[in-house]
Amino acid sequence: MNIHVAAQQEAARIEQIIEDHLTMEGPLLPILHAVQAEFGYIPENAKQIIAKALNLSRAEVHGVVTFYHDFRDHPSGRHVLKLCRAEACQSMGCEPLADKIKTKLGIDWHETTADGAVTLEPVFCLGLCASAPAAMLDENLYGRLNEDCLNDIVAEVR
Ligand code: FES
Repeated sequence: MNIHVAAQQEAARIEQIIEDHLTMEGPLLPILHAVQAEFGYIPENAKQIIAKALNLSRAEVHGVVTFYHDFRDHPSGRHVLKLCRAEACQSMGCEPLADKIKTKLGIDWHETTADGAVTLEPVFCLGLCASAPAAMLDENLYGRLNEDCLNDIVAEVR
């Protein structure tokens, strides 16, 4: 498919998503969630289309996308590993663990490994505070993480 056709199809799909949510009160977040569910991230083009439809500036939409950690402005890897960095997990040593995993994967927060296997994202509480430190790989939650668990998780995604 040529790039022009792909961009047109992407824009048409985004417009359809907007239309499906326009009658909602405060449609911006639901639209962004739906766009991310469809494409795996918020395409640059989507910000302008959404802004126009909701009478916002592109900068306002961009601001919301960058404010919420759940939104990505680039495609993710085949798996997304989210490590919790909120208070309970901090107190149980999530930061040294995060440093180890970053070194092991050779990436920083919000980056994807060169083989496209995994994207590393910070998250701020997964509701597993009693089992801190916690992480989520795709839809699966992990508690009481240690280096061995993380190594197993990495082995699983590669
Ligand atoms: S603080 Fe990490 S799961 Fe709640």
